[in-house]
Amino acid sequence: MSKVDVLLGLQWGDEGKGKIVDFLAPNYDVVARFQGGPNAGHTLEFDGRKHVLHQIPSGIFHPDKMNIVGNGVVLDPVTFHKEIEDLAPYNLDISSTLVLSSKAQMILPTHRLLDQAYEEAKGSEKIGSTLRGIGPTYQDKMARVGLRLGDILEKDFESRYDKLKRRHLSILDQYGFEYDLQTIENQFFDSLDNLRSFRIVNTEYLLNELLISGQSVLAEGAQGSLLDVDFGSYPYVTSSNTISPGACTGLGVPPGKIGKTFGIFKAYCTRVGSGPFPTELLGDKGEELREKGREFGATTGRPRRCGWLDLPALKYSIMLNGVSQLFVMKVDVLSELSDIKICTAYKRNGEESQEFPSNYNDEWSTILKSFPSWGHNDFSLYSEIPSQLSDYLNFIEDNTGVPINLISIGPDRTETILKEAMASL
Ligand code: GDP
Ligand code: IMO
Ligand code: MG
Repeated sequence: MSKVDVLLGLQWGDEGKGKIVDFLAPNYDVVARFQGGPNAGHTLEFDGRKHVLHQIPSGIFHPDKMNIVGNGVVLDPVTFHKEIEDLAPYNLDISSTLVLSSKAQMILPTHRLLDQAYEEAKGSEKIGSTLRGIGPTYQDKMARVGLRLGDILEKDFESRYDKLKRRHLSILDQYGFEYDLQTIENQFFDSLDNLRSFRIVNTEYLLNELLISGQSVLAEGAQGSLLDVDFGSYPYVTSSNTISPGACTGLGVPPGKIGKTFGIFKAYCTRVGSGPFPTELLGDKGEELREKGREFGATTGRPRRCGWLDLPALKYSIMLNGVSQLFVMKVDVLSELSDIKICTAYKRNGEESQEFPSNYNDEWSTILKSFPSWGHNDFSLYSEIPSQLSDYLNFIEDNTGVPINLISIGPDRTETILKEAMASL
C-alpha cells in the first residue's frame, strides 16, 4: 500500500509551496489539498508562464495526475469558477482530473460579508484577514450549520441556503454592516452549474482505495504552521489546522498512512497581516528584502512584512509536523544582501529562551547570529554551491537535525536544486 506524503509551509505562509508541489507532482499519482481555501495563493512558473492557484491543487498542470480538493477545504464556488476559466488557455482536461469532496464546506457570499464585518469591528486589533470568508465558513462548520459541496446536488439546497443566509443577515444587521448582496448572490448562483459539472464524491473513499491500489499521494498544505489555529500566534492565525495532522482530518486518511513530511521554508521570513513577528525588519533592510524578494501577496497584493530566518520558530514547526526533510526557498534573494542574520534564541528579562512565544511583544528581543553573503547564484548543482551558502545551510541542518534536500534559487520550476543523494526524493 502506498502512503500520503505531506508538503507544508513552516512559517507564516507563502514559502513557495505551489512551486514545489508542481515540481514534485511528476513523482506522484495524486495531489490533494486538505485545508484552507481561497485565502491561499500558490504561484507556479514554467515555460515562461506564471500562474496563481487558490483552491485548485498545484498538480493541475500535469495532465496525467489526479487532483483532489479534500473535505478539510472551504471552497468558494465563485472564485473556483474564475480559477477554472483562468486555466482555459492551458487546454487541460480539468473536469476529468479534478475531483471535489462532497464534504468540503462551501463559502457563501454572506460569509465574505461577515468576514468584512468582523474585521471592521475589531478595529486596531484586526487580524488582517484576506477577507475571503474563511473564518466565518469554518465557524459555521464547527457550529454544524454550514453547507457542503454535496448539498448543491440536493433538492432542498435553495431552502437550506436561504436559512443560512438569513442567519448571516441578522448578524450583519447586529453589526450595523452595510452591504449589497444582490450582485454577489447572482454571481454565486451563476457559478453553481460550473461546480456541478465536476465529480463531487466522498473523496475519503476514493483516496483510501487509490492508496490500497498502490497509487501515491502528495498532500499540499496551505498557509503555514505559524498560522495554525491551535499553535500559531493566536488570535492572529487562520481558522484551520495547517500542520501535518490536518492532512488526516482534511482528507480522511489515518495517521498510519502518512509517509514523508516535507517542510518548506524561506531562507528568511515573511508575514502578511497582523500579529507578532519576532525577526521583523522594519526599516530600509526590510524594504530591501521586500523589493529583492518581490514580497507582495499572491492573493491580495498586500506588501509582505519581511525579516530574518527564525530558528526557534522553525524548530517549533518541525516538531509539530514531524518534518523528515527540509526544502529551503528563495536562497537567491539573500545572495544580494551584504550581511545575513539568523535568530538563534529569544530573550526576556535577561533570560534566553528557545521556546516560540506565541505572544511575542516588546518585552522580548531576538539574539541574532551573522553570516556573510554568498554574493551570486551561479550554481545549478548541489556540489557547486558557494561555501558561505553551505555554511548557512549546515548551520540550519545542525540546529534542526533535519536534512535540507532541496534548494530553490528562483521562481521557475527549473530553478530547483536537489541534494544528489536525494535525487529521487
Ligand atoms: P505559496 O503560497 O507557498 O505557494 O507561495 P507564494 O506563491 O504565495 O509566494 C512565493 C513567491 O515566491 C511566488 O511569487 C513564487 O513565484 C516565488 N518563488 C518561489 N520560489 C522562489 C525562489 O526560490 N526564488 C525566488 N526569487 N522566488 C521564488
Ligand atoms: P498561502 O497558502 C500568507 C493570513 C492572512 C491573515 C491570517 C488570517 O498562500 O501560503 P484568513 O483569510 O485565513 O482569515 O487570514 O492568515 N493568511 C496567509 N498568509 N499566505 C497564505 O496562504 C495565507 N492565508 C491566510 O494574511 O494574517
Ligand atoms: Mg501564497
